[in-house]
Amino acid sequence: MATAQTRTSSNRTQTRKTRRTGRRDPQAITLLKKDHREVEQMFDEYEQLDDDREKLELFGKIALALKVHTQIEEEIFYPEERGEVDDDLLDEAHVEHESAKKMIAELERMKPADEYYDARVKVLGEYVKHHVKEEEQPGGIFSQAKKGDEDLDAMGERLKARKEELMMKLGGARKQ
Ligand SMILES: [Fe+2]
Ligand SMILES: [Fe+2]
Repeated sequence: MATAQTRTSSNRTQTRKTRRTGRRDPQAITLLKKDHREVEQMFDEYEQLDDDREKLELFGKIALALKVHTQIEEEIFYPEERGEVDDDLLDEAHVEHESAKKMIAELERMKPADEYYDARVKVLGEYVKHHVKEEEQPGGIFSQAKKGDEDLDAMGERLKARKEELMMKLGGARKQ
């Protein structure tokens, strides 16, 4: 083996490759991740509650947040990422949304005093956290999307606008 002449750290070789992997997430990813953190926090808060009225109210917020979030992903983010992100990942994410919506619908037919209500909320929370982890993990949907060619800052604007619209429509007057 030839001895490689050591090249002392020339500043010129200092990478440009961080361009795409820069620290700041594009707007679409920032918005979706923020939704994730908020709903995770609400599930954690739910576990601290004892009062049925408070449970019902918080679950209402969780359900609204999840409906709006899944809808903007399904209407905008997932379809626009077809071709950039593995089909399998997007298909699985869709199916997971469907299951989550069924769990939400079941809970909406119940009252906190009903048997297994808390357990159902807990299982939904675990399910959602699992789904979120899959979206955010290395090699997952978000990371593949960031490597793609879609303008995720511009998409962020559309996600935001649609989110506001749906919050009004599904949540009545409450905006956030
Ligand atoms: Fe999702
Ligand atoms: Fe998501």
